[in-house]
Amino acid sequence: MRVSVVALGKIGLPLAVQFAAKGHQVVGVDINQKFVDLVNAGQEPFPGEAHLQELLAETVADGRLRATTDYADAIPNSDAVVVVVPLFVDEKTGEPEFGWMESATRSLSEHLSPGTLVSYETTLPVGTTRNRWKPMIEEISGLTEGTDFHLVFSPERVLTGRVFADLRKYPKLVGGLSEEGAKRAIAFYEAVLDFDERPDLPRANGVWDLGSAEASELAKLAETTYRDVNIGLANQFARFAGQNGIDVHAVIEASNSQPYSHIHRPGIAVGGHCIPVYPRLYLWTDPEATVVRAAREANAAMPDYTIGLLEGAFGDLKGAKVVVLGAAYRGGVKETAFSGVFPAVEALKARGAEVSVHDPLYTDEELQGLGFTPYTLGTPVDAAVLQADHAEYAQLTPAELPGVKVLVDGRDRTDPARWAGVRRIVIGRSVSQ
Ligand SMILES: NC(=O)c1ccc[n+]([C@@H]2O[C@H](COP(=O)([O-])OP(=O)(O)OC[C@H]3O[C@@H](n4cnc5c(N)ncnc54)[C@H](O)[C@@H]3O)[C@@H](O)[C@H]2O)c1
Repeated sequence: MRVSVVALGKIGLPLAVQFAAKGHQVVGVDINQKFVDLVNAGQEPFPGEAHLQELLAETVADGRLRATTDYADAIPNSDAVVVVVPLFVDEKTGEPEFGWMESATRSLSEHLSPGTLVSYETTLPVGTTRNRWKPMIEEISGLTEGTDFHLVFSPERVLTGRVFADLRKYPKLVGGLSEEGAKRAIAFYEAVLDFDERPDLPRANGVWDLGSAEASELAKLAETTYRDVNIGLANQFARFAGQNGIDVHAVIEASNSQPYSHIHRPGIAVGGHCIPVYPRLYLWTDPEATVVRAAREANAAMPDYTIGLLEGAFGDLKGAKVVVLGAAYRGGVKETAFSGVFPAVEALKARGAEVSVHDPLYTDEELQGLGFTPYTLGTPVDAAVLQADHAEYAQLTPAELPGVKVLVDGRDRTDPARWAGVRRIVIGRSVSQ
């Protein structure tokens, strides 16, 4: 098959490589010339994706994969076009911003040939494939969906860093606008993916047809929104437990020893591109989803609550030197999208603290670029708030934070044995601990 992949980012590039490694002729199209040049040179444009470099070098060298910035070069006569251009959400209103995706859709529509399957993999609000992309593609291309071309939605469920393994592990969900479109999508994904055996699933691992584009859109929003709601519940238990002398971490471990309980971990913040964002995409089409809204609000309130714990233990924070440990949204990942560091720093500044930020993955210049005052271990400080669960912080001792009187560990990452003599507060543990 001749396959085009639109956007060669952290998801699109491994997908293009996967399709080429399965023996298909793949062209990736991206507006970033630097990425395109690197891909054509067989060099990965970003680090951290297992097996990407070797498979990219191999597939480019034997002519199965190439990249271009020119849609006219990539799209015509494709058997399938896979779109993974990101969608953004307005930080304040939660409204989706379709700009990048619309521009990509316009460009691909201008060059679409009859007979092509178009599959969107970017997480979308329910109804977007049918109500936004179908009319747009039809109008610009002059072709009719269901006869001249087929349109489906197939969410990407992988995690960056382990895309190739996850592509084998999880069923590939598809949903079309017609039976024929779904059939084409099943045939396409069966030809470009391999699947691990999963005896734990109710049906064989492989391509699963959900019956409609809407069901497929909802499946991705549901699996991610579930996690935000679950964390919201864990955070409520943690707040209650902390106030009542109960260790919520021991409680959760005990509850989850029964197979129907899967309570997630409470913490200072839910960050990253996905989990805090997708519930808002869901709420956009279901504003009456009170459970989802309440959980999102509960999670969004956690950074300020955590700083409140510090204030309660330390006293007035006016003029106090406080370091936030971890700019990344989670440990081991150099990514600050929707990271808890931003609201935590804001909440500290609102209380008059002098705030600095430490992160082993970021240089001082990078931290400054994010608007923070960088902190170097060994500099005197009055208090610390652990925001990201970097592995390094498990070994952290008060000696590295000279003068520290209170540590609020927002991720239960530090080692209590190393913190003897310093007031150490963990979310969900008794505040007197
Ligand atoms: N990153 C993840 O962990 C993850 C996991 C599962 C699903 N997804 C889904 O994949 C989508 C893409 O995420 P990503 O991490 O690959 O994004 P990314 O930021 O790594 O890459 C986006 C790419 O899109 C390109 N681009 C922008 N506008 C374009 C256009 N008009 N035409 C062609 N290319 C264009 C950019 O140049 C960039 O290379 C997300 O929105 C999400 O729905 C992401």
